[in-house]
Amino acid sequence: MASVNKKGTVKAKKAGKATITARVSSKKLRCNVVVHKFSAKKKDVLVAYFSQTGTTRAVAKKIRKLTGGDLLQIKSKKKYTSNYDKLVKIAKKEIDKNTRPKVATAAKNIRSYDVIYVGYPIWWHTAPMTVGTFLERYDLTGKTIYLVSQSASMDRSQYEESLVFIRGCAKGAMVDNGVFSKDNSVITNYINQNVLK
Ligand SMILES: Cc1cc2nc3c(=O)[nH]c(=O)nc-3n(C[C@H](O)[C@H](O)[C@H](O)COP(=O)(O)O)c2cc1C
Repeated sequence: MASVNKKGTVKAKKAGKATITARVSSKKLRCNVVVHKFSAKKKDVLVAYFSQTGTTRAVAKKIRKLTGGDLLQIKSKKKYTSNYDKLVKIAKKEIDKNTRPKVATAAKNIRSYDVIYVGYPIWWHTAPMTVGTFLERYDLTGKTIYLVSQSASMDRSQYEESLVFIRGCAKGAMVDNGVFSKDNSVITNYINQNVLK
């Protein structure tokens, strides 16, 4: 269970009990040692993000670095145009109709994750509908979801709206209030305080 060197340093080897006896001339001293099994199960993390112009992608990569999780881009099957005005019109239609655009990406084994980060920009006062499609694909019972979002206006009420939407799509999951910020240190603090405790 444990070893002891000449200097008397005890080293744990495996779980169990041991008695270490030290003898000095005719005197004996006993020391009982209990070695406990240390089981720190690492929480498996998925960092899923939707990003059109790269802002959320950069944040997601940062979260991956901090958490050691797997990175997954939530992509719509149809390629969105890079023309902003056209895209705004397409997105407005999707949101007005509460569409669930087909997603091109899937998590290989969603069951293996305990914690899922979902990063997305605000589109028309809520989350892009594709994020909804992605979440609705899975039974997320028992999982914790942390949201990370930002937008052009940084209007908090729009983020609150997206939170309601995400909670409706993430069945069975505990969806935390998340962080709505563009400030790297605010995002890092959120991750450190809430997740890496
Ligand atoms: C289709 C579309 C709709 C948007 N709607 C909003 C909006 O309602 N409110 C807002 O503040 N920003 C809005 N934006 C701006 C994005 O939230 C912002 O540019 C964000 O930084 C993009 O993140 P990304 O680089 O990860 O795609 C919209 C952008 C697009 C393309």
